[in-house]
Amino acid sequence: MLINFISLGLLLVSAATTGVSAQQNKPGSSSGTGTQAKADQGLNALMVAAGKLYMGTAIETNNFNDAAYMAIANDRNEFGLYVPENSQKWEEIQPAVNTFSFAAPDSIDALAKKNGQMFRCHTLTWHSQLPTFVANGTWTKDTLSALITTHITNIVTHYAGSCYAWDVVNEALNDNGTFRSSVFFRTMGTDFLPLSFTVASKADPNAKLYYNDFNLETLPRKADAAVALVKLVQAAGAPIHGIGFQAHFRVGQTPNTTSLVALQNRFVALGLDTTFSELDIAHTSLPPNSTAIERQAQDYVGVVAACLAVQRCVGITLWQFSDKYSWIPTTFPGLGDACLWTANFTKKPAYSSVASFLAGKAAATPGPNASGRPGGGVQSTPTSTAFSAASPAFAMSGGGAKGLMLCKSVLLSVFVVVLLSW
Ligand SMILES: *[C@@H]1O[C@H](CO)[C@@H](O)[C@H](O)[C@H]1NC(C)=O
Ligand SMILES: *[C@@H]1O[C@H](CO)[C@@H](O)[C@H](O)[C@H]1NC(C)=O
Ligand SMILES: *[C@@H]1O[C@H](CO)[C@@H](O)[C@H](O)[C@H]1NC(C)=O
Ligand SMILES: *[C@@H]1O[C@H](CO)[C@@H](O)[C@H](O)[C@H]1NC(C)=O
Ligand SMILES: *[C@@H]1O[C@H](CO)[C@@H](O)[C@H](O)[C@H]1NC(C)=O
Ligand SMILES: *[C@@H]1O[C@H](CO)[C@@H](O)[C@H](O)[C@H]1NC(C)=O
Repeated sequence: MLINFISLGLLLVSAATTGVSAQQNKPGSSSGTGTQAKADQGLNALMVAAGKLYMGTAIETNNFNDAAYMAIANDRNEFGLYVPENSQKWEEIQPAVNTFSFAAPDSIDALAKKNGQMFRCHTLTWHSQLPTFVANGTWTKDTLSALITTHITNIVTHYAGSCYAWDVVNEALNDNGTFRSSVFFRTMGTDFLPLSFTVASKADPNAKLYYNDFNLETLPRKADAAVALVKLVQAAGAPIHGIGFQAHFRVGQTPNTTSLVALQNRFVALGLDTTFSELDIAHTSLPPNSTAIERQAQDYVGVVAACLAVQRCVGITLWQFSDKYSWIPTTFPGLGDACLWTANFTKKPAYSSVASFLAGKAAATPGPNASGRPGGGVQSTPTSTAFSAASPAFAMSGGGAKGLMLCKSVLLSVFVVVLLSW
């Protein structure tokens, strides 16, 4: 009798051991079975399980006293990265010559650190939201170069070590692919591009430096011009590490996954990482009917799928996650309901579809291996490996799996000891 219980105990110990080794390979044995990824885990946890660095969101300090909003924003399972929606733009961060205002982005950076989230930074050289002294100043090539150098050096130095990535130059192109007639282009021609990237790189050699723009996804001529822009920066010997596709889309007019993958691959071929940097998908008729609500869900999934399909796509940032704070209705009257959560913080069908899609992908994604790297979608580029090792979200998901393993082992050991002493 005792012998029988001892063999039962040994059986259980061996079952426990098998369980542990299976856990270590999770998520994602090659068969894709036995995954821990569940659609209710949160978007960031699922993106990380699917091999990406983050699901992020734009946020501002005026959101901080909205408790219902912050309960979601502070949840690292939902969001692994913050980007300041406005407070690093020129008019806010250097409103007057040599007057820098870091308080708001500092508090977003501090909150990200407290939550164990990444921090993405936005933006340095941009024609819009400029203070009058820049937009309407009288500049020569030399004085404007000096101004850009001072601006970028001060800000990038201030956030050195905190910013995973900077949108160094934003929206330098017209929709027809010509260079936008900004104060920078009018005064300096294209020289402001390599200058901006070079100065940013000197101030923080570890930040990933991006060119960021909109409508590259829908306008082939503009995409061609962005490819040429990247080549121009590279030919000038300036560092550029990534391309940000803003991904401000419309329900029913969102580019399909195939075309978004092909677009990204044009920049991957130039050695760049890619990201969807400001994702939202607006309804064109309000309130949306049930067909449009379903279409929004499909459109969101299509964009997420396009990131997962490209190894160099590092992650996705939502341009706010709740309709309560979306920029769309004020900028484009008649459009709206573009986010994954409603204005009262209910998850939309689009949220559920994205979460289910990610959970399925995570199940088929090789998990972290012995070298502690994320499996699946993220290539071992300097970007991905350097940051993912330190990625809090990644550490978190590893920790969760370990905790579960430990818990199971302890329970089984206790059970075995009880049986043996019985
Ligand atoms: C620059 O001047 C133009 C023309 O007066 C004006 O419309 C514009 O708002 C000014 N820009 C800024 C940023 O002050
Ligand atoms: C391209 O677009 C800009 C801005 O709309 C316009 O000023 C310019 O004339 C256009 N150029 C061509 C060649 O169409
Ligand atoms: C995807 O979109 C592109 C560009 O609009 C189009 O040419 C292509 O047929 C579409 N592919 C699918 C599978 O719908
Ligand atoms: C639902 O809304 C879309 C977008 O406005 C519209 O094209 C479509 O006709 C509507 N469908 C029905 C059944 O009302
Ligand atoms: C939240 O908003 C949605 C539509 O935006 C509505 O259907 C739902 O009833 C609201 N829920 C609450 C609790 O107010
Ligand atoms: C772990 O992942 C890295 C990066 O993807 C890969 O180079 C390495 O061969 C993998 N190691 C094992 C043991 O699978």
